[in-house]
Amino acid sequence: MSQHLWSGRFDAAPDPAAFDFGISFSFDRRLFEDDVTGSLAWAEALTAAGVLTAEDASAIQRGLAEILEHGRREPNWVNGPDEDVHSFVERQLVARIGDAGRRLHTGRSRNEQVSVDLRLYLRRRIPLLQQALRGVVGALADQAGRAGGALMPSYTHMRRAMPVLVSHYFLSHAAALRRDHERLAQAREEANALPLGSGAIAGTGYPIDTAALAARLGFDRVVANSMDTSSDRDFAATFLYASTLAMVHLSRIAEDIILFTSEEFGFFELADSSATGSSMMPQKKNPDPLELVRGKAGRAIGHLTGFLVIMKGLPTGYNKDLQEDKEPLFDAEDTLAVSTAATASVIAKLTLNPARTGRAASGLLLATDVADYLVSRGMPFRQAHEVVGAMVRQLLADGRDIEALSVAEWQAFSPLFADDVKTRVTALASVQARRTPQSTNPDAVQARLQELRGWLDSY
Ligand code: ARG
Repeated sequence: MSQHLWSGRFDAAPDPAAFDFGISFSFDRRLFEDDVTGSLAWAEALTAAGVLTAEDASAIQRGLAEILEHGRREPNWVNGPDEDVHSFVERQLVARIGDAGRRLHTGRSRNEQVSVDLRLYLRRRIPLLQQALRGVVGALADQAGRAGGALMPSYTHMRRAMPVLVSHYFLSHAAALRRDHERLAQAREEANALPLGSGAIAGTGYPIDTAALAARLGFDRVVANSMDTSSDRDFAATFLYASTLAMVHLSRIAEDIILFTSEEFGFFELADSSATGSSMMPQKKNPDPLELVRGKAGRAIGHLTGFLVIMKGLPTGYNKDLQEDKEPLFDAEDTLAVSTAATASVIAKLTLNPARTGRAASGLLLATDVADYLVSRGMPFRQAHEVVGAMVRQLLADGRDIEALSVAEWQAFSPLFADDVKTRVTALASVQARRTPQSTNPDAVQARLQELRGWLDSY
């Protein structure tokens, strides 16, 4: 019997330098389970179409079930000199059941087979990544709950902007990760179409009931066009984008926590178990896991970019370049999985220093509230902005802070200031004065946190 799935047409064995270069088994063995799943269903579809006898069909079914069982029991067995996982499974099948095994590939191409495998793979693996993301969201929600009424500054341009609740800050990252969760669901949905029946490119010549086959494999639809299908990897690109954007968000969380746990900020303290020391400087407590998450985001972006470059020049129809889809995809998946786990663990063990965050949330960042105060007394906002700007300039020159002003001093800036300015211009009053549901108003934040917990509990 010829050595490869395609050896019949050739006089000579392939040159190892060329053939070995094209072997994908070392990485597409990850699709083993999906390849068997797809083949089992294909055998049934061929049988229903009258292509396989009941006898062949049951031999194939038995053979594939054994192969699946063996591979699950002993993952290292899924190995060998085969060109790819499809060749491996077929070789194992023929070794077990002979000619019936040689009939399985009737009407089918590896081009659609690799597509069905990848789609099945993503369909079962994406929910695991979503679960991992929920782990980070849960850690953020717990921190938000624990922060209570603690205040901190928010930043724009990395300069103090306005006071916010620490819980609002934690929930801001949860909001982004929930979009990632949804984006992954959409990537899964995009992958959820049956490519089988497309043949190598023109469609299969056997009367396969594709709707029944789709239903059998849990796909919610059949692809629209066989030519498109043989090189369609949009679902892989969508997955890479969704996972890369999630990495970008994790990287930004990492960057924040690296800054906020530094000596300069001191807003949070990293658990000892989330940090590493220095081989030379005994005082160091380095946020290595967070730095690695930030670094790995670069790697994910590289996979997305590299993959789009692979796709951009391909002529219509399957091209071997497409084999290059799998390594970036698998690595993006692994990278997101380890990064979510590390991030969740670091966040879960962070300790808040509310005295520090509270102190940083007072002073000149209340300037907007001072302007709002004047507006409430009838001054047009532009003019109020001007008055408060002059106040800030004066305070900076004198090295003083808003809280240090006596009522008489307030009134020197504007007669509209009254006694209540001292209680109305505080960080707490500032957050309480926010009015919209997405704001840092304590009731609004509480409502958001509850909604988030409900979402987490729904899984
Ligand atoms: N290993 C190949 C891939 O990953 C499978 C499809 C090969 N098809 C072909 N005609 N060479 O894309």
